[in-house]
Amino acid sequence: MGSLHVDRVSVEFPAGRHAPVVVALKEVDLKIQPGEFVVALGASGCGKSTLLNLLAGFLSPSQGQIKLNDAVVSGPGADRAVVFQKHALLPWLNVIDNVAFGLKLRGMGKSARYDTARKHLVHLGLGAFETHPVYQLSGGMQQRVGIARALASDPEILLMDEPLGALDALTREKAQELIIRIWKDTSKMVFFITHSVEEALFMGTRLIVMSPRPGRITHTFDLDFGRRFLAGADARTVKASPDFIKMREQVLKIIFGDEEAAGGDHV
Ligand SMILES: Nc1ncnc2c1ncn2[C@@H]1O[C@H](COP(=O)(O)OP(=O)(O)O)[C@@H](O)[C@H]1O
Ligand SMILES: [Mg+2]
Repeated sequence: MGSLHVDRVSVEFPAGRHAPVVVALKEVDLKIQPGEFVVALGASGCGKSTLLNLLAGFLSPSQGQIKLNDAVVSGPGADRAVVFQKHALLPWLNVIDNVAFGLKLRGMGKSARYDTARKHLVHLGLGAFETHPVYQLSGGMQQRVGIARALASDPEILLMDEPLGALDALTREKAQELIIRIWKDTSKMVFFITHSVEEALFMGTRLIVMSPRPGRITHTFDLDFGRRFLAGADARTVKASPDFIKMREQVLKIIFGDEEAAGGDHV
């Protein structure tokens, strides 16, 4: 398994009739290594989704390049799977057919794709729901179907744009735990966007903080809170520990603009 390399990437959206040119990203450098869980935080409009869309191959850089395993990314591919905030499931298909859909498009036979889909549904606690229509599921379950579908194609990297943003607090915490367990079990690279500082600190192995106009990475932090949870600590205990709270306040200061007091690794 190789790494993902964002190499001095800029993205400019051209001016519209009433809108100036937007420099959504300016000379962004980022390397994601196998097994890393990179979390992006930053105010709205700082270019997080633009960066994710580049990694997915939905967008091309104006300058610079993205490389996966030393090959330039020039469009979407099965080696990268995306989970959005709002699930993008097909409402006319049941749960297992949603998960198996991409495999079908790639020509996998019916029993092989059902076996694969079933394995991921069981892993995500949805084994009993494979024949349910997706609209009968709760929001949290629909998001898990979306994650199962992303995993079914066995991508090298999972790209997640605020995947838990629409969930209630309790479901969200459970989903955080589930996702980092999956990350540990599959050792995939993850790029995860969130608005929640607590979620970012808990889940990531590395945090990047971005700032707008032009969008860039201003700070990075190495994290190990999620690994404490995976080693057996209770999630709430991890989130209430003094070093977690200290880092949470430090990151909040950066985001709210009091950088002098914040410290961290300036980029
Ligand atoms: N297709 C587009 N055309 C013009 N401007 C865009 C487009 N997509 C995003 N932008 C602008 O680029 C900036 C970064 O957007 P985005 O990546 O969505 O930010 P974030 O996800 O961090 O909130 C914003 O100013 C946004 O308005
Ligand atoms: Mg966004």
